[in-house]
Amino acid sequence: MTTKLVCLLVVVVFAAAATVGAGELKVGYYEKTCKDVEKVVNSIVVDSVKGNRGKGAGLVRLLFHDCFVRGCDASVLLEKSEVNRRPEKDSGANIGIRGMDVIDAIKAALEERCPNTVSCADIIAYAARDAARYLSRGGVDFAVPAGRLAGVVSRSRDADTYLPDAASNLTDLVRNFRRKNFTVEELVILSGAHSIGVTHCTSFSGRLTAPASQINPGYRSLLVSKCGGVSPTPSSNPTVVNNVRDEDAAAVARSLPAFVPRLRKAKDYMDNSYYHNNLAKAVTFHADWALLTGKEARGHVVEYAKNGTLWNLDFADALVKLSKLPMPAGSKGEIRAKCSAVNYHH
Ligand code: HEM
Repeated sequence: MTTKLVCLLVVVVFAAAATVGAGELKVGYYEKTCKDVEKVVNSIVVDSVKGNRGKGAGLVRLLFHDCFVRGCDASVLLEKSEVNRRPEKDSGANIGIRGMDVIDAIKAALEERCPNTVSCADIIAYAARDAARYLSRGGVDFAVPAGRLAGVVSRSRDADTYLPDAASNLTDLVRNFRRKNFTVEELVILSGAHSIGVTHCTSFSGRLTAPASQINPGYRSLLVSKCGGVSPTPSSNPTVVNNVRDEDAAAVARSLPAFVPRLRKAKDYMDNSYYHNNLAKAVTFHADWALLTGKEARGHVVEYAKNGTLWNLDFADALVKLSKLPMPAGSKGEIRAKCSAVNYHH
């Protein structure tokens, strides 16, 4: 056989999507096939997040939005195409999704190093871990089991169905998380990710007129001033930081003077401040505040407000569990050449 023919056969074998079994994921999965893969990912993530901490928030959210919809299969990364006019990205639930440029840069570096080897779904999991570790100054850390494949299906309506709505009440949130086998405690733990990042005003518009029993009136006026009124629209839709601690000092001094001592120089710092903010009714989403409305969930909010180290550990465990959500049985999986598109044969 000529070398050319052998190469062609190898390409054909790699290009064919396999049916995914319930294979075990493994820490160090690429040890033999792509040495130092985690070092490459980490260095690109750290460089990007140093330049723009918001990208780190985007990467953490990307893991959630990938895994809650058809399992961790990189379906959230697929762009619109001739054959798929409404991928997950198009769903309103994916408003503001970011960090894909970091994933693309990692994929390009890894393709150069070890072509056709590292899946985009594993890259999302590694990158989310590295972003969380960086933004928490090492507090949130864990080993990432790998060996996922990227899927070939991505439908906006699946994201509509499976991603939680920011206006949800506690019953809806608990149901949404239980469907993926997550407990009330894990819902509370994972919601703590809202200590970082930003949100569009339309994602919490109901909060702009919510009663004082649900939102600190000072915080509400701060949000109203940031959003330019109580009725943001998709065409006039600024973003606001998720963590009041990251707000600009002048605005906080004006609307919420009691919070001035909470302000920090380091923005987008991942920690348990979300729980303190929540107990003070200074969180962006109705779904955040709703955690105070049930005895069990509220108990966990109090628990994590008191113990930041425990939250770091439990958040790490919850991210590992999230990262193991499998694709639906019988799904096709592959190593994509580019994370934003399925391979040619589809
Ligand atoms: C519990 C139900 C949840 C709801 C209803 C929810 C909803 C939202 C919404 C509406 C946004 C803002 C989108 C925008 O307007 O730009 C957001 C941002 C964010 N969410 Fe959640 N989320 C939930 C759980 C989670 C979980 C489990 C994680 C990760 C483990 C997470 C991580 C983030 C992060 C990091 C951001 C900021 C992203 C950025 O700045 O780019 N969220 N979330």
